[in-house]
Amino acid sequence: MIVHYSKYGRVFDLLPEMIFIVDEEQKIVDHNIAASSRTGFRSRDLLNNSLELILPPEQRRVLFSILKTNFNDQSLETKFLCADRSILDVHVDLRRLYSAERFYAVLIATDITELKKRELDYLRFSNVIQHTVNPIQITDASGKMVYVNPAFEKASGYSKEELIGKNPRILNSGRHSKEFWKSVWEYIMARKVWVGEIENKRQDGTPFHTELVISPIVDGKSNIVGFLGAHRDITEQKILEQQLVRSQKMESIGTLAAGIAHEVGNPLTSISSLVQVIQRTTADDFAKEKLELIKNQINRIARIIRDLVDFSRPSAYVVKPTDVNKLVREALNIVQYGKKVKDISFSLELTETIPTLVVVPDQLSQVFINIFMNAVDALEGKPGSIAIQSHLRNEHVEVIVRDSGKGIAPRDREKIFEPFFTTKAVGQGTGLGLWVSYGIVQSFGGDIQVESEPGRGSTFRIKIPLKGE
Ligand SMILES: Nc1ncnc2c1ncn2[C@@H]1O[C@H](COP(=O)(O)OP(=O)(O)O)[C@@H](O)[C@H]1O
Ligand SMILES: [Mg+2]
Repeated sequence: MIVHYSKYGRVFDLLPEMIFIVDEEQKIVDHNIAASSRTGFRSRDLLNNSLELILPPEQRRVLFSILKTNFNDQSLETKFLCADRSILDVHVDLRRLYSAERFYAVLIATDITELKKRELDYLRFSNVIQHTVNPIQITDASGKMVYVNPAFEKASGYSKEELIGKNPRILNSGRHSKEFWKSVWEYIMARKVWVGEIENKRQDGTPFHTELVISPIVDGKSNIVGFLGAHRDITEQKILEQQLVRSQKMESIGTLAAGIAHEVGNPLTSISSLVQVIQRTTADDFAKEKLELIKNQINRIARIIRDLVDFSRPSAYVVKPTDVNKLVREALNIVQYGKKVKDISFSLELTETIPTLVVVPDQLSQVFINIFMNAVDALEGKPGSIAIQSHLRNEHVEVIVRDSGKGIAPRDREKIFEPFFTTKAVGQGTGLGLWVSYGIVQSFGGDIQVESEPGRGSTFRIKIPLKGE
């Protein structure tokens, strides 16, 4: 017998680990109480039997091959076969014991069956979360992010490294009030699951809309240890909704505009001719001067009416094959006659292989003039640049107008296509240019897109399909 008794009894019987002592032929020569009680084998079954008794066949080779070497403090994970044929997952530490004439191996085995099961549960869970298309974030109890899945990285534009440790506030779009977030927080702190639609901000500043479910993660003692946020990306849907609202609004305003233009246009023409008559016939200088002012104001109204009419009666024009580059050049010439352009460097980069487009040339000219004029205005008389390009992309032609002007404030971005929206001084802008342009481009089945960095400049992309829709 190689295990020494202390005066208190067999000390190793007190240990929770299963301990087996085997000789050079892998014969069990001793074991502790845990070893027999955990495996369910009686001591007399174990003693003098091969270790094979408690090893499933496929586990034997690895363990035996270690035991045959001159091993030193090794450990491995393997399985034990119990008396009732059930299997235990075990972690085994191997030690050597030398006695006078031979050596023994001591196996100190810890039952890790539960741990393995939990590991597997965790693995399954993390695989699901890792591969789901839903953006998912997990925060600790204070709200700091401790985990985000790849879908979340994709949706937010931030990398995992940039997000971990941060508060989800960095995605705040500013669209929801402080009170809104306070009520969400109170709700989840009360251990309730919150569901709602929110607008977040991507790393590049663009919005991403999600349907969000936040559920508190509660431990065994019902303490909140964190929060799980699962999103469903509804950005696409939101953008489509907004476009629909926008085009419906345009349509109804267009109808209204046609009516107003007609009703206002006629009396205005009579006023205008009366003013000219009086101007010609009167000798009163004061009246002459005031009439001049009236004429200016009438011209301004007439300009607005003209824009409205242009917009509301596109069918009055005929479509024909049109050289887009030629229109761009002509529009630029017109704009360059202006007084405000002397400090501006214009650059023109046109793709000459663009085929003709079937559009109304006058209308498309108007679009280019409007957008070029806006670019000039955006420079506010200061030195700067305007770059115009034309490209052929898949099934459409794209004209890009880039200015280095004052840019567009994010809160104005979705309003600039609305009629009468202008940030320019009274008398400088009608707020109709982009509205009219958008209507025209849309009637050709195209689209106008805007990107802008306030203070740095704006880019307008006018896209027109090669074949109308
Ligand atoms: N290139 C640009 N840079 C900055 N802001 C622009 C630009 N183009 C348009 N905008 C903004 O959009 C608004 C609406 O433009 P528009 O419909 O052409 O009306 P207007 O030029 O008469 O103001 C402008 O007042 C301006 O605030
Ligand atoms: Mg304009």
